[in-house]
Amino acid sequence: MEHKLFYPNKELSANAAVKNMNEYNKLQNFAKNDYEGFWDSFAKDKITWKKPYTKGLDDSNMPFAKWFEGGELNVSEQCIDRHLEKNGEKTAILFEGELGDIQKITYNELSRRVNKTANLLKNRYGITKGDRVVIYMPMIPEAAYMMLACARIGAIHSIVFGGFSSDAIRDRIMNAKAKLVITADGAYRKGKPYMLKPAVDEALAKGGCDSIEKVLIVKRNNQEMTLVDGRDEIYNDLIDSMSEDNEAEVMQSEDPLFLLYTSGSTGKPKGVQHNTAGYILWAQMTMEWVFDIKPADIYWCTADVGWITGHTYIVYGPLAAGATTVMYEGIPLFPDAGRWWKMIQDHKITQFYTAPTAIRMLHKIGDDEPKKYDLSSLRILGTVGEPINPEAWDWYHNKIGGGTCPIVDTWWQTETGGHMISPLPGATPIQAGCATLPIPGIMAEVIDEDGTPTPVGEKGLLCITRPWPSMIRGVWGDPERFKKSYFGDCKKDGKPVYFSGDGAMVDEKGYITITGRTDDVMNVSGHRIGSAEVEASIGNADFVAESAVISQPHDVKGESLTAFVILNLHDHGAYEDMAKEINKIIRTEVGAFSMCDRFIFVPGLPKTRSGKIMRRILRLIATDEEITQDISTLEDPSVVKAIIEATKEQS
Ligand code: PRX
Repeated sequence: MEHKLFYPNKELSANAAVKNMNEYNKLQNFAKNDYEGFWDSFAKDKITWKKPYTKGLDDSNMPFAKWFEGGELNVSEQCIDRHLEKNGEKTAILFEGELGDIQKITYNELSRRVNKTANLLKNRYGITKGDRVVIYMPMIPEAAYMMLACARIGAIHSIVFGGFSSDAIRDRIMNAKAKLVITADGAYRKGKPYMLKPAVDEALAKGGCDSIEKVLIVKRNNQEMTLVDGRDEIYNDLIDSMSEDNEAEVMQSEDPLFLLYTSGSTGKPKGVQHNTAGYILWAQMTMEWVFDIKPADIYWCTADVGWITGHTYIVYGPLAAGATTVMYEGIPLFPDAGRWWKMIQDHKITQFYTAPTAIRMLHKIGDDEPKKYDLSSLRILGTVGEPINPEAWDWYHNKIGGGTCPIVDTWWQTETGGHMISPLPGATPIQAGCATLPIPGIMAEVIDEDGTPTPVGEKGLLCITRPWPSMIRGVWGDPERFKKSYFGDCKKDGKPVYFSGDGAMVDEKGYITITGRTDDVMNVSGHRIGSAEVEASIGNADFVAESAVISQPHDVKGESLTAFVILNLHDHGAYEDMAKEINKIIRTEVGAFSMCDRFIFVPGLPKTRSGKIMRRILRLIATDEEITQDISTLEDPSVVKAIIEATKEQS
């Protein structure tokens, strides 16, 4: 099929870091021919090294790659201190609260706040290099101070998204043996205060979190909360007396910077580890290449700091690039569906980066809201986290971007640390719904298990065949799981390569279109959800014998969850009540965003003789599609008919 291409506008190209496809090709050829030389040419200048590195890449012990060994730096200095001389009074963080309160935090102010926080963590709580700190915070500037203060003293932060439940907090504390939890009383959502701190109390009350010594609480909504004597302390009461001076810890290039837990196809979430130099280098470079960040820009990424997008593209990337990064506390629908567009107008946002789910939701509401506002400050739009359908793309392009802003459809993952495949706005002709080309330096390829490139137009496995600087360095505490999860499926030239878990297709131009996960990981509203996690939770309902969760297409959320459930009793209550009960359990054990939209109670599940659930068959049944594949090899082929009947009866 012929796809329309949108070419970059001349003005943007003239000033972009990568100005045209010739420059793109030159860079990518440089990387292909001299991989280490390519990275060296950027790393030596872009990072303010305390001590230069002696080796670019050490890939002698793959998959455990090491970058920039011998180098010393500190990420908080890269993000703050080095900007102070020239840009101390520039706004670093532009915060807008849901109720309309605004804070403009300059780089000077950010430096003071982060140093004070670093002193508090170090001097009062004895947090030192290598200690793990769990952060469970709303979208307020203090979340960024905490991250940067950890980076400054060499502590490893592990942020738990505020939508996660107390069980998820507890699991993450226990897995990382964290010493301190930092949280807030709560924040504001839909115009009302909501609470976060009680979830931390619950997590700790469940036991097993003996590594935690203290809980530090930021006051945001000033609602009443109970404090545990000797354990809980209020940040706002302690911070003023701290010194503004703090000597940043000297970090080695490969010292860990943070952990971020993410769902895989099996088992509990994995603690994805990112290290210091490579991560910050790529965070900064992609800000320059993909977002074309310029000194006067006001850049806004609407993600939450609890996800990788918030880590790399609200905090670390923009600040390393010396940009102004906007942070918004609340939801896009408060007080009405024009909130985001009003913010773009009020703050003269130049780059706007969001998820297709949000675009679909706002598109559905209609054109009237964006029409009310002047969106002409926008230069570049971005999407992340899931595929964007052509209708939503068109609306975003025309109604938000005025038909002139390029849309960078960025493909990447928690594990990749930063963008991997994306248009470069001054160079790449864009195509709706397509992530286009690997960013220079990234060897993203669509291949089969043995490394043979997949023919044009056919689905293959999306792999990254050379280590890159911001690559996952490990799964916390589990090197074997790291190898098996990411390097167990695909080989190139006989050597294991990184497999993303995504399928993809290449067209005749070399453009890559993501076709979705090839494993049991699901994507609801851009949130990554593992079927194993949800099924484990469903299994905790005492009337459930077994379940299988799949996702089916949803017009706003992209995908929504459907659970096929086998009951362990004959005398059961109404299906509706059981569905409610199960969702309640999911909400408390995982988080509300993992609740299922649909339940189908079935007598059995389609399993292979080795006991593997054939989710593909369930997906077809859920969407009422014909099953063409051979089911005779199933342990009990008749079960398929029974599931189809149950599905029909219950819809
Ligand atoms: O399936 C891909 C999808 O999101 C997954 C990664 O999820 P997570 O680690 O939570 O990170 C999300 C934010 C980077 C991928 O394996 N995904 C991400 N970006 C895109 C995408 N699917 C299609 N198009 C994208 N641009």
